[in-house]
Amino acid sequence: MDSQDVQADLKHVLFTKEQIQTRVAELAAQIDADYQDRDVLLVGVLKGAVMVMADLSRALHSHVTMDWMAVSSYGSGTQSSGVVRILKDLETDLMGKHVLIVEDIIDSGLTLSWLRANLMSRGPASVEICTLLRKPDAAKVEIDVKYVGYEIPNEFVVGYGLDFAEKYRNLDFIGTLAPHIYE
Ligand code: XMP
Ligand code: MG
Repeated sequence: MDSQDVQADLKHVLFTKEQIQTRVAELAAQIDADYQDRDVLLVGVLKGAVMVMADLSRALHSHVTMDWMAVSSYGSGTQSSGVVRILKDLETDLMGKHVLIVEDIIDSGLTLSWLRANLMSRGPASVEICTLLRKPDAAKVEIDVKYVGYEIPNEFVVGYGLDFAEKYRNLDFIGTLAPHIYE
């Protein structure tokens, strides 16, 4: 029988709910300071960034609008394929807008560098990136990420929007999976 106990699937907790809330509030304060005199369009990358977007947007004092994109660079496994497909595009015209991409995690950086180039081609005033987590491999691609919550080791993480085969997104903390789950 499948265990319904999520804790049994996890190796350890990387960031608690409280730690995430504190860090997200710090990022929001930085973003508020940087966008004082400009309206910003937050572009959330579905589905992983849903939790970051919900908490970050509520912690901001600036005027924001929000839109969503869904792209795919992964199958159901844990390896980036490098091929990015748009599954859902934005509804907003980016011409002249200050865009802030909101992401859950940057791993190889392939998805984000493709996405930034794609959004840049639509004539925005600026495109910056905010990610809650960044893995070490991201250093290999040249991508300027203005706001990073945490640098993490090269382990597969779940929770707070992040999934393994669509599970664990609803956890309010971030943890690493026990090897028996993905091996
Ligand atoms: P790249 O490699 O293009 O990938 O930077 C970014 C996307 O890959 C997914 N990803 C993960 N998802 N735990 C997850 O749940 C992880 O440890 C992980 N590493 C990468 C994620 O969808 C991200 O947007
Ligand atoms: Mg994602």
